[in-house]
Amino acid sequence: MNPLTFESGEQFARAMDASDPLAHFRERFFIPRTNSGEECVYLCGHSLGLQPKTARAYIEQELRDWAELGVEGHFHAKNPWMPYHRLLTEQTAMLVGAEPGEVVVMNSLTVNLHLMMASFYRPTRERGKILIEAGAFPSDQYAVKSQIRFHGFDPASSLIELKPREGEFCLRPEDIQSTIEREGDSIALIMLGGVNYSTGQAFDLKEITTAGHGKGCVVAFDLAHAAGNIPLRLHDSSADFAVWCSYKYLNGGPGCVAGCFVHERHSHAWELPRYAGWWGHKEAIRFQMGPEFQPMVGAEGWQLSNPPIMALAPLCASMEIFSEAGMERLRAKSISLTGYLEFLLKQSASPVFSVVTPSEPGQRGAQLSIRLRGEGRAFCDKLVAQGTIGDWREPDTFRVAPVPLYNSYQDVYRFVQRFSAACS
Ligand SMILES: Cc1ncc(COP(=O)(O)O)c(C=O)c1O
Repeated sequence: MNPLTFESGEQFARAMDASDPLAHFRERFFIPRTNSGEECVYLCGHSLGLQPKTARAYIEQELRDWAELGVEGHFHAKNPWMPYHRLLTEQTAMLVGAEPGEVVVMNSLTVNLHLMMASFYRPTRERGKILIEAGAFPSDQYAVKSQIRFHGFDPASSLIELKPREGEFCLRPEDIQSTIEREGDSIALIMLGGVNYSTGQAFDLKEITTAGHGKGCVVAFDLAHAAGNIPLRLHDSSADFAVWCSYKYLNGGPGCVAGCFVHERHSHAWELPRYAGWWGHKEAIRFQMGPEFQPMVGAEGWQLSNPPIMALAPLCASMEIFSEAGMERLRAKSISLTGYLEFLLKQSASPVFSVVTPSEPGQRGAQLSIRLRGEGRAFCDKLVAQGTIGDWREPDTFRVAPVPLYNSYQDVYRFVQRFSAACS
């Protein structure tokens, strides 16, 4: 069956699931259930990914080692805690298209964004601005504005926001380019989402980085909605840094430890100011307890604290499944699954809603953002109460994402049935 030619009946969804080589991965996750015990239609992996069934065993292993070994677990646990975060390095590097030395799993997203900006946002009077998307995720807006103020500048004049054209919802790539071309000489930092959280639009990281570097800007990305969703080639994009969280498409659990990328060319950038902590200090001499900070080479040199092992454990469980499935296969299914969702929504054409996410697969990941006219959060709450889970983003957007690791074509079919009924 051609994965991009769709039919409207339920039989088609069943046949697609039956021939899906990744279908069995669904059994590796807990699917939430309604009060009556029925599996929910969970299309909310863009917000919080589901729990891998192995997560508990991963955490219990560390609890057991803690109980049995105490402090000795740092060196003698089954997976010693000292280098525990490195269990994730290779898989994370593969996932975002980086060299292992360019990535580290640490802190949370907004913390990492601040740490990176402390080093890479070096505003001067002539070149002090930050370029972001208008309506970027609030935490990003707060973070960049607070950094601008921290350096004694005013966001009113130092923040440039990329706005879609009148009557449009997504940014045109040529408009991003022309803004960089026009304003680039005054921009210190370009910081965009890899996939916009509200519209689901995916950006071309390499194209943006090349344009930004051409004008002498630092270029960075928030990959909260991109990591584990679309294939990434961070090293080749040449971006200076990137940050992401691990609780959405990466299924690491609520508030899970986040990821950070620093391009290899900054791996020995000792001249950059950075906030320091002992976990970023040269490992070989960390326990000599010396007074002067000597950073580790690469992304690890930005670590502050010894990592929370209990929070890393479920991420290890999830990344193991990710590696087994493979990003290429996941992406192929994702294009098909989201294409099917779009197809069914178009079939049920209604004046009440429209999809604002680009329909070109290269310009989106799994998520479709549906704009609802005359509806509010109550619309979403009603569906959730029936076990159909997406999420609402003010003022008018219902976001849904069929996630290729655990969602099925039948999930998508059921979703559109229930969504259409709620719209009529
Ligand atoms: C695009 C984006 N940036 C930043 C954040 C904030 O992440 P955290 O609370 O982990 O710092 C989120 C959270 O959903 C997000 O979607």
